[in-house]
Amino acid sequence: MTTDGMLALHTVRRGRPGALPLVLLHGFPLDHRMWSDTTDLMAGDPTVLAPDLPGFGRSPVGEDVAEALGEQGPSIEVMADAVAATLHAAGVQRAVIAGLSMGGYVAMAVVERHPALVAGLGLLDTKSTADPDAARENRLRVADAVLADDSVDAVLGMRTTLLGATSRVTRPDLVEHLEAWITDQGPRGVAWAQRAMAVRADRTAVLGRVHRPALVVVGAEDELTPPDAARAMAEVLPDADLVVVPAAGHMTPIENPEPVAVALGTLLRRSGG
Ligand code: MLT
Repeated sequence: MTTDGMLALHTVRRGRPGALPLVLLHGFPLDHRMWSDTTDLMAGDPTVLAPDLPGFGRSPVGEDVAEALGEQGPSIEVMADAVAATLHAAGVQRAVIAGLSMGGYVAMAVVERHPALVAGLGLLDTKSTADPDAARENRLRVADAVLADDSVDAVLGMRTTLLGATSRVTRPDLVEHLEAWITDQGPRGVAWAQRAMAVRADRTAVLGRVHRPALVVVGAEDELTPPDAARAMAEVLPDADLVVVPAAGHMTPIENPEPVAVALGTLLRRSGG
């Protein structure tokens, strides 16, 4: 879909119209479907907008989104600007922006680049720091591999590493869901996002300037962005609640959605929704 020269992101909307929206940004290498278990449990039928980030789900690929925005190369900034443009095109001037992991990197870039849009900030299973050299090099290798193979096999192992130890043993259904969602994604989208994450900035200092309600959520068993990274962000944010979710790893919204739904509802209310 083209809106005023930009490529709008495919966005699923639910809830009652007119309320302060909650915008949920998914993790890598997934799409908006990862939020359904949590939003099903949210009280009061809030307005929820769940976009597919560039190259995922039914959104246009990152190269096309970047070109339409007049920007160069894969970057978290392109994703953030695409989210802001999509919301503005949908008539949303203010929202609570929450993201998981890669979605959290994008949420932090939205608050830096489009502060007027953000009524509240939710950071789930993510971190504000940039990649160390080894992680950056690995992302570039994975990006090359998925394009060379024309397959997302190189990231399929994430169907288990995204989960915590408890879920890996007790929730084979979640492994199946993740496998289905990952294999639905295209190699171009996966490669572009890996390259975008590889060059992302450290946004810890940005968090110190977020003088509005914030929420940091982390799975107690998150091995990718562990509780220490969450505590560090909550300490820098001027007004943050920290919620450590039991029996969950990196995918708190599917591993243990109930406390995540409650925490997001509280953030929405604290932000004026
Ligand atoms: C995610 O869940 O979005 C990824 O773990 C993010 C990353 O690779 O840094």
